[in-house]
Amino acid sequence: MPKTMRAALLDTAGAPEALRIGEIAYPDRVNAEFIVKVVASSVNPIDAKTRAGRGVFSAIHSFPVVLGHDFSGVVVESPYSAHPLRPGDEVFGMVMVPRLGGSYAEYIAVPSLSVVRKPATLSHIEAAAAPLAALTAWGMVVDVAKAHDGQRMLIHAGSGGVGHFAVQFASYFGAHVIATASGSKASWLRSLGAAEVVDYRTTRFEDVVHDVDVVIDLLGNVHDNTGSRSLASLRPGGLIVNAPTGSWPTFAEDTAAAGVRGTDYKVAPDGNTLGVIARLLESGNVRVHVDQIFELEQIADAHRAIESGHTRGKIALKVAEG
Ligand SMILES: NC(=O)c1ccc[n+]([C@@H]2O[C@H](COP(=O)([O-])OP(=O)(O)OC[C@H]3O[C@@H](n4cnc5c(N)ncnc54)[C@H](OP(=O)(O)O)[C@@H]3O)[C@@H](O)[C@H]2O)c1
Repeated sequence: MPKTMRAALLDTAGAPEALRIGEIAYPDRVNAEFIVKVVASSVNPIDAKTRAGRGVFSAIHSFPVVLGHDFSGVVVESPYSAHPLRPGDEVFGMVMVPRLGGSYAEYIAVPSLSVVRKPATLSHIEAAAAPLAALTAWGMVVDVAKAHDGQRMLIHAGSGGVGHFAVQFASYFGAHVIATASGSKASWLRSLGAAEVVDYRTTRFEDVVHDVDVVIDLLGNVHDNTGSRSLASLRPGGLIVNAPTGSWPTFAEDTAAAGVRGTDYKVAPDGNTLGVIARLLESGNVRVHVDQIFELEQIADAHRAIESGHTRGKIALKVAEG
């Protein structure tokens, strides 16, 4: 095993340029953990928020830190010799940063419950683009909102990393999906299963969308009070599930006053659910869309891209050949 590995490192909070490429120690494997050689990672908004000193930054107690929740790669060490995932197997999954070192690195140590066999039909780049965003979408749309036949579901930012999975899961389970996005993405979103697309640049969605059972809110009040305005689109007693939880401090009071149910949502690594998602990806029932691919050395550019807030699907990172 090498003694050190290449990684994108963060020494202190800052702008994208604060990320630098350097060498750190090869990870230690303990108990039921794998060592995975990372071929690809992906960039999520939480990475950029954390790098800037928000997100999970307050939980980082030693620097330099390695960010990056998603990985796809090859098993180097298994937890025990009879484990069904063997050295050389292709796997993907999600790690919880900063509790563990992140995937902007050549190797990671990761608990076995977070590691899943990579869908054979996906490249490492495609597989690495899926875990955090797809698990978030599944948690909000399937676990919390119980997507089902005939349910009317409004999904904000349907064209983003989480949103494009949310649209597909909701429509797979029979919901009538109304997505907000800019108009240029409407036909693509229809191809993913949206029944209606509202162009947020030209139309106030609350003027044309009424009596939905569920709002999947991936914007909160980050932009144009999208979260608060959504309360007018819900039927009485409907449900709003909010992911950018920090953007709407009066969420609980506002939903109660409007006579609807509201909950925030927090994603976690979950190999069982990711295994189900892997089967949907492998069969082609669900697709992952990679908008841009950056090399690990271009990590600052990848962060600038995610911070633009206008990604279609996901931004992936190539860490190694594979
Ligand atoms: N709590 C959790 O566990 C959790 C997990 C994952 C993500 N999140 C949070 O959820 C949010 C979404 O994450 P993501 O990865 O999906 O982000 P993303 O990929 O960066 O989302 C980008 C998309 O948002 C669309 N968009 C921007 N402004 C919009 C508006 N006003 N109306 C409708 N669509 C708009 C953009 O469409 P256009 O290009 O057409 O403008 C773009 O396609 C982030 O704040 C993230 O931190 C939370």
